[in-house]
Amino acid sequence: METTGTIRLGNENFEFPIIEGTEGEKALDIRTLRAKSGHIMFDEGYGNTGSCLSQISFIDGEKGILRHRGYPIEQLAEQSTFLEAAMLVIYGELPKSGCLDAFRNHVRDHASIHTGMHHHFDGFPSKAHPMAILSAMLNSLGAYYPEMSSNDREQDLVHFDETAALLISKVRTIAAMTYRMKQGLPFVFPDRNRRYAENFLHMMFSEPYNTYIDSCGAADALDLFLLLHADHEQNCSTSTVRMVASGGANLFASVSAGVCALWGPSHGGANMAVIQMLEEIHAAGDDGSRFIEDAKNGKAKLMGFGHRVYKNYDPRAKILGKSAEHVLSGIGIDDPLLDIAKHLEQAALEDDYFVKRKLYPNVDFYSGILLKAIGIPVEMFTVMFAIGRMPGWIANWKEIAENPKSRIHRPRQVYTGEPQRDFVKLGDR
Ligand code: ACO
Repeated sequence: METTGTIRLGNENFEFPIIEGTEGEKALDIRTLRAKSGHIMFDEGYGNTGSCLSQISFIDGEKGILRHRGYPIEQLAEQSTFLEAAMLVIYGELPKSGCLDAFRNHVRDHASIHTGMHHHFDGFPSKAHPMAILSAMLNSLGAYYPEMSSNDREQDLVHFDETAALLISKVRTIAAMTYRMKQGLPFVFPDRNRRYAENFLHMMFSEPYNTYIDSCGAADALDLFLLLHADHEQNCSTSTVRMVASGGANLFASVSAGVCALWGPSHGGANMAVIQMLEEIHAAGDDGSRFIEDAKNGKAKLMGFGHRVYKNYDPRAKILGKSAEHVLSGIGIDDPLLDIAKHLEQAALEDDYFVKRKLYPNVDFYSGILLKAIGIPVEMFTVMFAIGRMPGWIANWKEIAENPKSRIHRPRQVYTGEPQRDFVKLGDR
C-alpha cells in the first residue's frame, strides 16, 4: 500500500503522508501543504476535505452503508432504542443494563424546565418558527447551568455526563412547550412513568382533562425516527457544532448553532419541504409524473432526493418508508401523499436523469409522512430532526473537547475581490 502521495506544482514535488481509516478510507494529509509550497487546496463545499478524524459514525455512500460505532443502522433500528443508541453514539459502546437504566433516570430527572425559562416563551411572537425558538432556548439553557457552560473545557467536561442527559431530555421538553405556546395551549408537565418518545407525545398532546393515549404504536415509530437521526458523520449541522466547539464554546452554545445549521431546506428543513411538495403535487391533481419532468428540466427540485454522500439508497429512508406504511395502516389512514411519494420514488428510480446522477431517496423523503401520521405539525418537523440529532452533536462536541491536540477550525479562502486601491473622499466619489 502507498504510504505517501505526491503533489507536483511547477517543477517541484511535495510529498505528503497518506492516512487510512479503519474501513480503508484513504486521505492525503496535506496539513503542511501551505507551509511547504505556499499553496492551499480549494474545495468549495468541502466535498473532498476530511475535516477531522472521528470514531463515531461511518458512511459508505456508494454502498448505502451507515454504521454507528461499528454497528449497522439496520441492526440498531431493529434491536435498539433511541436512548440506548444515544449512549452508544456518545460513549462508544452499547451500555450494560445498569448504565442504561442510570442514563434513562438521568434523562427523566432532567425533563422539566426551570420556571424562569417558561417566561422566555412569552417573549416570542406566536408566528415565530419553532427552530428559531429551539436554537434560542438551547443557548439560554446554558445560562441556567453556568457550571456546565463555563467555556473552560476541563470544567465543562467534568459535568459532561449530566449536560448530555440534560440536553437530550430538555430539547424534547422545549420542543413540546414551543408547540403548546404556539397553539395557545397550557404547558403539560413531563410524566416520569412514560418512556422517552411517549413522554414527548404526552407533553405535546395531553390535556389536563384528556390524557394522550398511544393506541397505534406512534411512540415506537417516533422512537425509531429519532434513532435513525441520531448521528450522520460530518453533515452541515454536525460540522457547525464541531466548528463552534473548536473555538472552546460550551456544549449548549455549540448545539444551539447546530440547530441553526440544520434549519435550511438543503439539510434538515428538507423534511418540511417534502410534505409541502407532496401537498402541492396532490393539489395540482398530479400523481408525480409532471413534477418529475419539472425536476428534470430544472424547474423544481425533488425534495427528499439526492445526498452529498449517498450515491445509493439512504439506508434510513428504506427503514422509514416501511415504518411510515406500518403506522398509517395501524391508524387506518389512507394518506394520498404516501401513494404520491411511492410513485415519485418508483418513477425517479427508473428515470435516466436520476439514475445517471445517482439520486436516491434520502432520510427526509418518508420521514414527513411518518411524522404527519403521528400528528406532528409540519412546522415542527425539523425540530423533530434536531431532537434526534442531539446525541450526534453531543458526541462530536465531546470528541473535540477531549482532544488536547484539537485546533480551532479556521479554513482559508482564495480572495477574488478588488486588489489594493486608495480611499476616495466622499465628495470625489
Ligand atoms: N432533484 C433534482 N435534481 C437534483 C436533486 C434533486 N433533489 N439533487 C441534485 N440534483 C441534480 C443537480 O441539479 C445536479 O444536476 P447537474 O449535474 O445537471 O447540474 C446533480 O443532481 C448534482 O447535484 P448537486 O447539487 O451537485 O449535489 P449536492 O451534493 O451539492 O447536493 C443536496 C446534495 C443538497 C442534498 C441535493 O441533492 C438537494 O438539494 N436535494 C434536495 C434537498 C434534500 O432532500 N435535502 C436533504 C439532504 S439529507 C439531509 O440533510 C438530512
